[in-house]
Amino acid sequence: MWGTMEKVGPIYMSTIYRNSPLPRYYQLKEIMRERVRAGEWKPGDLIPSERELGETYGISRMTARQAITDLVNEGLFYREQGKGTFVSRNKITQQLIRLTGFTEDIRARGQQPSTKVLSAQMSPANEVTAERLRIQTGQIVFYLQRLRLADGEPLAIESSQLSFKGCEKLLEEDLEQNSLYRLLETKYGLPPMEAEQELEAGLAGNEEAQLLKIPVGSSVLFTRRTTYTDRNQPIEYAKSVYCGNKYTFYTHMKREQLVP
Ligand code: GLP
Repeated sequence: MWGTMEKVGPIYMSTIYRNSPLPRYYQLKEIMRERVRAGEWKPGDLIPSERELGETYGISRMTARQAITDLVNEGLFYREQGKGTFVSRNKITQQLIRLTGFTEDIRARGQQPSTKVLSAQMSPANEVTAERLRIQTGQIVFYLQRLRLADGEPLAIESSQLSFKGCEKLLEEDLEQNSLYRLLETKYGLPPMEAEQELEAGLAGNEEAQLLKIPVGSSVLFTRRTTYTDRNQPIEYAKSVYCGNKYTFYTHMKREQLVP
């Protein structure tokens, strides 16, 4: 079999088997995956270069490159131009069962959330927003665009539009230091209680790539969320773009009735 792990102290030794029916790049992928799983290569670590891997495992650079590229595409590694390839952080899981905000999601995994406000202004709602927020097209809403980061690393761009009586007061809030959901709940008496969300796969355009510090054309996840308060009143319609390789969306499903 391939890449048999032989535990030597805290390190795992592994070999590429020449006679294995499994392609060599595949065996190397499994070896590298195990190094990450075992905690030997930690998030943020620079992995060995193609040349080093080639020398260590007695394979060609091309084979090493193929294994690395596959793991980059799977999100286990990420490349930084001119610097090398690094181990990604574990993906952030956004629960699709419990309604949580960005700040909660990031704190739940022990990271420090932060926010850069890109725009905060009053602006007229377009047709789609008006429909989602059940208001008239052209009605003035609070528009907020934020870059969301975890431990200083950009993860998402969120464009929110909020409509409720007195929403213009949000202009005076410090939205870099405060969670929007928390403010709505504690200061405005409008706790976000329910939401509808759509997910769509896509590719980063110029502006998104620049803000998220990822190459143009990287995979991203677009979400559109309408959030309601306990009185079933829509208060926020938000469009977000998440770095595709850093997020997992989790949902739990139950079958209502078994087909006879
Ligand atoms: C999520 C949603 C946004 C919402 C945000 C609130 O990320 N996609 O619609 O505005 O959470 O997060 P916070 O409370 O950290 O401002």
